[in-house]
Amino acid sequence: MQIAIDGPASSGKSTVAKIVATQLGFVYVDTGAMYRATTVLANRLGLDYGDEAGLMAKLVDAQIEFQPDQAGQKVFLNGEDVTLTIRTPEITNNVSQVAALAAVRTEMVKRQRQIADQGQVVMDGRDIGTTVLPDAAVKIFMVASAKERAQRRYAENITKGIDTPLATLQAEIELRDQKDSTRAVSPLRKAADAVEIDTTKLTIEQVVAEILAITKQKM
Ligand code: C5P
Repeated sequence: MQIAIDGPASSGKSTVAKIVATQLGFVYVDTGAMYRATTVLANRLGLDYGDEAGLMAKLVDAQIEFQPDQAGQKVFLNGEDVTLTIRTPEITNNVSQVAALAAVRTEMVKRQRQIADQGQVVMDGRDIGTTVLPDAAVKIFMVASAKERAQRRYAENITKGIDTPLATLQAEIELRDQKDSTRAVSPLRKAADAVEIDTTKLTIEQVVAEILAITKQKM
């Protein structure tokens, strides 16, 4: 069984997907982390973020791995722990440019399908229901207002000692959504057969309960 969860930036996908996966005993796959690790690779190589050929020359042999951890999951790029690096502003603000490269997407989609072939997964991203797992039994499209998403990110940042102004966060989120929705290859889009959940006024527990209820109907 496959559960695909898509939606815009900071809509709460990964928080909810992790809990759903744990409760069902499925593997959680954070595809955003894979595009972020790819962006770290481009940065380390000193490449322009639009240099598709330069990046692909190294990406095909690059290892991007996940390791379960108490806090969720650690992400490794060629054996190096990049869990914190992939969340830095440099990577967050440039990942959409790297994720728009057609060859990068082909490589990532191939890897994501290989992981899904190994067992039951909850996979979150932007194109899971439309492109990566078009036959997923459950497809969810999570949305929330940009203001609410910025407020959630702001509150999360404060607990980490990061003090980016709320208005800056909202502008960054809106810019990333705009880039992800308007790119030529696999743009952020709700699959025709996805169930849309607006989480603006819902708690994490309510969203998890709704997804579990939808899943149980399909089991
Ligand atoms: O989910 P997260 O915010 O970590 O994703 C980071 C970026 O990776 C997105 O803004 C998008 O550009 C890209 N992405 C994508 N397709 C996916 C997952 C993420 O293009 N399936």
